[in-house]
Amino acid sequence: MKVVIFSGAGMSAESGIQTFRDSDGLWENYRIEEVATPEAWSADPDMVTEFYNMRRKAIIDANPNRAHELIATLEDLTEVHVITQNIDDLHERSGSQNVLHLHGNIRYAKSSGPNQEKEYYRIDGWKLTENDKCPEGYRLRPHVVWFGESVPAYNEAVPILSEADILIVIGTSLQVYPAAGLIHYAERASHKFVIDPKAASLGISDDFRIISKGAESGMEDVLKEIKKVLI
Ligand SMILES: NC(=O)c1ccc[n+]([C@@H]2O[C@H](COP(=O)([O-])OP(=O)(O)OC[C@H]3O[C@@H](n4cnc5c(N)ncnc54)[C@H](O)[C@@H]3O)[C@@H](O)[C@H]2O)c1
Repeated sequence: MKVVIFSGAGMSAESGIQTFRDSDGLWENYRIEEVATPEAWSADPDMVTEFYNMRRKAIIDANPNRAHELIATLEDLTEVHVITQNIDDLHERSGSQNVLHLHGNIRYAKSSGPNQEKEYYRIDGWKLTENDKCPEGYRLRPHVVWFGESVPAYNEAVPILSEADILIVIGTSLQVYPAAGLIHYAERASHKFVIDPKAASLGISDDFRIISKGAESGMEDVLKEIKKVLI
């Protein structure tokens, strides 16, 4: 049985990392287009770098929550794949082995030049500076997918979802495309769950079991259900 977790910002809310939609489209008091677009980088790379430095620092200081841990322990029972829209590394830090980041990983940087996806550079600590450059001499930017940019990991996610037997969607408003559309590839899955305090208003299809709870408590419930199928 292949279990696929599809997570969004709500997954890390109980680790103290703010979601984006829950604060009226603001992210830590910034309008998203001021900091998370290629235009923002062109206009003020220092400001964008500083914004992500602060986010990186908060993420390093945060800890995986019980829901991250439960997902990691699921690997003792079966094959698990995590596809996350999150740029934090809390799934990896709780022990999940197969994590695909659709929107990048804030612990890494990439070139701001023409060959951005050629190589990702691990950032030592929380701070990226204007002096950090790729070998071609371009300034390094955070390894995150900004609004208006393509999603290089999308094609890798499609076959993973297509082969899912169990799909668990957690903490995503399903508003950010193309990522949100990926869940429609899970046609084979015989068990589908959505965990989100606002799950009932997400407009998700009725073959999903709706769990209107936070990630930690919702994941406890789902685990009880899927253990019946797996054991
Ligand atoms: N932790 C992160 O890495 C992080 C944080 C904020 C934004 N982002 C970026 O912004 C984009 C926003 O899209 P999104 O759909 O992931 O997030 P979103 O902010 O649009 O939606 C968050 C969802 O989480 C739900 N939620 C709130 N508290 C929750 C909890 N305790 N448990 C479970 N669910 C909870 C909300 O009801 C909402 O539906 C992402 O693609 C991501 O790249 C990332």
